[in-house]
Amino acid sequence: MTPLEDPDGAATWWRHAVIYQVYIRSFADGSGDGIGDIAGIRERLGHLADLGVDAIWINPWYPSPMADAGYDVADHRAIEPSFGTLDDAVALFDDCHRSGVRVLLDLVPNHVSSTHRWFADALAATPGSPQRDRFVFRDGVGVDGSEPPNNWKSEFGGPAWTRVIEPDGRPGQWYLHLFAPEQPDLNWSNPAVAADVEETLRFWFDRGVDGFRIDVAHSLVKADGLPDVDDESIHGRHPHWDQPGVHDIYRRWRTIAESYDPPRVFVAEAWVAEPDRLAAYVRSDELHTAFNFEFLVAPWSAGALRRCIDDTVREHEIVGAPPTWVLSNHDVARHVSRYARPAGVEGYRYLDDLLGLPCDLELGTRRARAAALLVLALPGGAYIYQGDELGLPEVEDLAEEVLADPFWIRSGRQRRGRDGCRVPLPWEGEHPPFGFSPPGAMSDPWLPQPPAWSERTVARQHGDPSSMLELYRAALRIRRQHPAFGDGPMTWRPSPADALVFERDPGLVVAVNLGTAPMALPGHKEVLLASGELPAGGLAPDSGVWLAI
Ligand code: NOJ
Repeated sequence: MTPLEDPDGAATWWRHAVIYQVYIRSFADGSGDGIGDIAGIRERLGHLADLGVDAIWINPWYPSPMADAGYDVADHRAIEPSFGTLDDAVALFDDCHRSGVRVLLDLVPNHVSSTHRWFADALAATPGSPQRDRFVFRDGVGVDGSEPPNNWKSEFGGPAWTRVIEPDGRPGQWYLHLFAPEQPDLNWSNPAVAADVEETLRFWFDRGVDGFRIDVAHSLVKADGLPDVDDESIHGRHPHWDQPGVHDIYRRWRTIAESYDPPRVFVAEAWVAEPDRLAAYVRSDELHTAFNFEFLVAPWSAGALRRCIDDTVREHEIVGAPPTWVLSNHDVARHVSRYARPAGVEGYRYLDDLLGLPCDLELGTRRARAAALLVLALPGGAYIYQGDELGLPEVEDLAEEVLADPFWIRSGRQRRGRDGCRVPLPWEGEHPPFGFSPPGAMSDPWLPQPPAWSERTVARQHGDPSSMLELYRAALRIRRQHPAFGDGPMTWRPSPADALVFERDPGLVVAVNLGTAPMALPGHKEVLLASGELPAGGLAPDSGVWLAI
């Protein structure tokens, strides 16, 4: 059996996969310029194989001016020179496949960089031209068209429209950008746009890529006439989020993915709040999986998590897709730090939601350990964001001069944004760069690492049974060997109101205590893994356990 063969058949690996998110800028720097790169990933692949992940997802690595950390793509079919070359990328695919690890890339279909050649052509062309029609250009309203065409807002702050200077030197039309002005939205009703993205899919599939994560999968189609956002803009009536037309796009992509052997797969990044609307993205002829962000932002409360699990499992069952659980990623404050805050009624998402609240990182770490055992035992697949396995907290005190996130710049330096979860990984040693960059590197890491991370390096945690790293390694090892994990049903067991206790067939009981007092352990044959101490046959608060029955 080759490393990539799957006992259940290569076509279903994604239904139960544990996928590790490689934020390339911050994973490992092979060249010594302070920025992570492909050479660094190849050097550190052993860490991922030891951890036991099934696949990696690599954030955008295409040529980009980095106005939004690579989500402003100038050419989707090439590699950003500071990350490496196309040959390096193909060599990485081979290395990964030899180690039994599949590779997903990040596809950014909603927008391109304003340095993309298409956008340069559009600016040089006239209103109404085919070049402009690849984007969303409109005349402004008001006197001389000096106001934006509608009231849409950019995710990063300010209007979602920027006015251009026409080739004749006069202020002219406006173009849409749901994100930064450097990220003009593509016009998905133009067949040339769809054809180009399909070519990108094939380009990477032909080179051995196993699938894609789809960036803002719910934003590609805009409502006819681009109506204003108003109070009614919910449940499929929002003019630019979750428009029903997006599903046709994914049906075409699924056909392309299925034309490969083995079939390629997709995971949707779609921040839609209702579980049934999320499940619509993973109908059997659309995308395969979708991140469940409701769970990510849910507060640390048994009731809230249970409701989210029930809704998710029910709606995914209806469409026959496996749920996908995720605790952190490069867009949200790290969960150790979110769970370190008093559990409110609402969960937290960004660092800016946390600042000023009391913070207990020991508590956050205990809960993060329990949460790991929870998500890795729920039905379906799970994602690990690089550094989750080291228990890294959010870096909350980065100096203002190093902040690079458009949230910071576009909010008029009001919102610190997402840099605090993007700090380069600590691998070994007592001082920064902690092995992130090679000895003698010419530059410091692009964001400074806290000196206290000497306690959290991979080398420090390796072999320490109480470490987060060894907890993740053990969990993934057990998950691979035990038939109850991954895809399949779950059954709740009666439990105290502030606990989650469920059974998975065959022979597994999972218990998580979210209360403030120890709870009795369910009857069992053997403790497979515990996230914390088991005082006198009980489960301590903020702990989880896997039991064989
Ligand atoms: C979602 C990505 O995860 C985020 O990092 C990015 O800023 C936006 N999409 C825009 O591409």
